[in-house]
Amino acid sequence: MDILGIETTCDETAAAVVRRTEDGRGKILSNIVLSQVSEHAEFGGVVPEIAARAHVEALDHIIAKAMAEAHASFAALDGIAASAGPGLIGGVLVGLTTAKAVALTHDKPLIAVNHLEGHALTARLTDATPFPYCLFLASGGHTQILGVCGVGDYVRLGGTVDDAIGEAFDKTAKLLGLGYPGGPLVEKEAAHGDPKRFALPRPMTGRRDANFSLSGLKTALRLEAEKIAPLADADVADLCASFQQAVVDVVIDRLRAGLRLFGERVGAPTALVCAGGVAANQAIRKVLHRVASEAGTTLVAPPPALCTDNGAMIAWAGAERLALGLSDPLDVAARARWPLDQVTKAPVEKVVAK
Ligand code: KG4
Ligand code: ZN
Repeated sequence: MDILGIETTCDETAAAVVRRTEDGRGKILSNIVLSQVSEHAEFGGVVPEIAARAHVEALDHIIAKAMAEAHASFAALDGIAASAGPGLIGGVLVGLTTAKAVALTHDKPLIAVNHLEGHALTARLTDATPFPYCLFLASGGHTQILGVCGVGDYVRLGGTVDDAIGEAFDKTAKLLGLGYPGGPLVEKEAAHGDPKRFALPRPMTGRRDANFSLSGLKTALRLEAEKIAPLADADVADLCASFQQAVVDVVIDRLRAGLRLFGERVGAPTALVCAGGVAANQAIRKVLHRVASEAGTTLVAPPPALCTDNGAMIAWAGAERLALGLSDPLDVAARARWPLDQVTKAPVEKVVAK
């Protein structure tokens, strides 16, 4: 089956056509992503109203491009999938309403995809990873450790109680005057800094649960920066290196706790899978390999372009759901908040048949 996927929950306007074959394998026929980074850069973060307007302006062209590159026709598609949340509601409405219009006009099933489910299932598109696996999702908006047990079947093992990891990188970059998005800029500075110069906290480490808290770390960094202001270039590099090292140590500890909970609640994972923009960070990626092998499993890291927001992950999640007979009515609502454990699950007989 061929599915058109639409993604507009944050600052990427994206559309893709993905094919799912009978044996459950996936193939990306096109994957077009337009980043709005330059439109938000001067504000040091995503401005929801600007994002929604930019989606309105770009989406039709992005869909046309995705369809053309895939040599697809609307008539030949098997379904239309769109992120229906969680995310910035103005943007979600643009993508979901567009998907509804296409589905209605061409009489195709609509699949309202939870954006996090798109991230969660990407490893099955890229690596055909079997269930159950442990997912570490770390982006600008989300930081979660999940058990992925089946389509629509997720166990939340841990998450952030305040800022997301990507958000902490972005705020650090803003504080140090580095620009937006902050992750890659902080990583670049950290490469030539001293990670031991500043003693920053490692919040939540040593706890049995698998939760994160990043806001205290960010505040500690600000206080250190204020103490030595004005900052020389070497100070900025040392602050970045110390910050990144603290995040790395937190990630190691929290993922160990997450994998332990996975073992208790789910069983043995087929893999540790990472997703989200933060997984592009080389220092973090390195420790993910280590933590996975310590837990007797391997790391599956989809290519960075499929770790960050894109239409292919939404099309694929739509295909996995439609293959199990799951689709949505045209009046399905867009949702700013939508925890992954509240998505609909396939009926048991369908899961067994597949
Ligand atoms: O998944 P993503 O593209 O978008 C969403 O937030 O949904 O993730 C973007 C986030 C930003 O906060 C960005 O600063 C962070 O991922 N990021 C990184 C790196 N590259 C992107 N964080 C740390 N190191 C990086 N190399
Ligand atoms: Zn995302």
